[in-house]
Amino acid sequence: MSVNKVVKKITTHVLYEMKLKGEKIAMLTGYDYSFARILDEAGIDIILVGDSASNVMAGYETTLPITLDNMIYHAASVVRGVKRALVVVDMPFGTYQGDSKEALSSAIRIMKETGASGVKLEGGREVADSISRILSAGIPVMGHLGLTPQSIHKFGTYVVRAREEEEAERLKEDAKIIEEAGCFSIVLEKIPARLAGEVAESLKIPVIGIGAGPQVDGQVLVLHDMLGINQEFSPRFLRRYHNLYDEVKGAVQNYISDVRAEDFPNEKEQY
Ligand code: KIV
Repeated sequence: MSVNKVVKKITTHVLYEMKLKGEKIAMLTGYDYSFARILDEAGIDIILVGDSASNVMAGYETTLPITLDNMIYHAASVVRGVKRALVVVDMPFGTYQGDSKEALSSAIRIMKETGASGVKLEGGREVADSISRILSAGIPVMGHLGLTPQSIHKFGTYVVRAREEEEAERLKEDAKIIEEAGCFSIVLEKIPARLAGEVAESLKIPVIGIGAGPQVDGQVLVLHDMLGINQEFSPRFLRRYHNLYDEVKGAVQNYISDVRAEDFPNEKEQY
């Protein structure tokens, strides 16, 4: 029987079991109560309250401006809509990189004020101290390697990472380092599929890919991209499952026409 059929609540332990049994993990981002309810009822395993909220919810160009207070607001809304999925919250830029004590207090705020089950942060060896410190308070940590959007000004571009041997080797080392530091899972973003497969194979913890091919333990997409709400973003790895932008626009246009034609509300739609 699949691990998921007998599971009432997804925990980090359930995710390890899924990896052991070769069952793929399905993760999506979520930022609000209403969508979180739909994702949870549909059976998603992990909802990531991603700092991509900075782009898709707030309209910023990068993930850098979103604040800890903003992330806490989104995460608490998501948690209120969820019964089963594991909710993981991105630690925003500037709340964990400089100093592991600050990382711990940011993570504690997230856990206390949202009710989420873990945090995610970007980076390898340079954030290993922060990862260990957060874990010392019993807070599960998910890592994130490859394309790390909080470092966009260092990379200068969102192209595929770790194509060259040197960067690929460093990524493999970083994955080991943050697994040893205690991460319960790692996201690999936009790296060659073969490299992602090698990393997943070499680690005990589940590896979740985005633009990292099929040989990993699970997949994640940004909700607004896979639903076709955001039409400007079309990387090769993105599969659009819906065209919600046009659907919503069409519904709004129908409503406007009905109001203008005095067709709404009709006799049954009044008291
Ligand atoms: O913020 C986010 O949406 C993410 C995913 C791309 C993994 O980190």
